[in-house]
Amino acid sequence: MANPYWPFFDLKVRTPLVELRVPDDDDLVELANLSAKGVHSPDFMPFNIAWSIVPSPDRERGVLQWAWRQRGALSPDDWRLEFVVVKDSQVIGAQGFGAQRFSLTRVINSGSWLGLAHQGQGVGKEMRQAMLHLAFEGLGAEVAYSAAFDDNLASIGVSRSVGYEDNGDELSPRGEDAVGRHIRFKIDRQRWLERRRDDIEIVGLDPCLPLLGITAAAGT
Ligand SMILES: CC(C)(COP(=O)(O)OP(=O)(O)OC[C@H]1O[C@@H](n2cnc3c(N)ncnc32)[C@H](O)[C@@H]1OP(=O)(O)O)[C@@H](O)C(=O)NCCC(=O)NCCS
Repeated sequence: MANPYWPFFDLKVRTPLVELRVPDDDDLVELANLSAKGVHSPDFMPFNIAWSIVPSPDRERGVLQWAWRQRGALSPDDWRLEFVVVKDSQVIGAQGFGAQRFSLTRVINSGSWLGLAHQGQGVGKEMRQAMLHLAFEGLGAEVAYSAAFDDNLASIGVSRSVGYEDNGDELSPRGEDAVGRHIRFKIDRQRWLERRRDDIEIVGLDPCLPLLGITAAAGT
């Protein structure tokens, strides 16, 4: 094993189009630089926290610190895996998901973003399908949740297109000083199985499982 103390560095999820991998610090700097080039248009805030409009270099530093925090805080009862999305050897975005007491609940929540230049080309769907494959096939998840503001048509498009169902709504902080309507989405194991792809590969997962509180994955 190349990274016995932090086996996540050996974990990859590969589709014909993209690779998801747990970033080392070089990957994180690439991700930070990508965030500096823009994540959305200035008049549209897709996130609860307005990290994506913080002026440089605090935005880039914030991207690093967020990733380091998830890494440092990971425990079997409460974890979040933040992957970089790599296409043609370039970091083009981030796909994360996490869980609390996963061994009990088998439930995950996810979030993602792509650099502006990489949006609207089907990559959002591809990386979400890669993440769902890891969650359901690799970890034995039973349900995956997601949410997006009601005018975030790209994120809503990804969720509906890969099989999530609408799951109600909620008011939620939006950026610095607004409140927005979040549409909630969910996909359960059965709906995922009906859409399961057979061209997605998971590498290096086994040594990670105990660190995520998983002794036996239901799907494997
Ligand atoms: C959300 C995001 C990850 C989606 O990725 P993407 O690569 O742009 O989306 P895709 O090209 O895979 O499109 C997914 C679906 O949404 C549709 N879609 C994409 N952009 C759209 C838009 N602007 N308006 C309407 N539909 C859109 C696509 O047609 C596709 O649906 P289909 O399969 O039925 O054709 C990306 O747009 C992004 O990073 N946005 C900014 C950050 C963000 O909003 N993050 C999510 C916060 S909840």
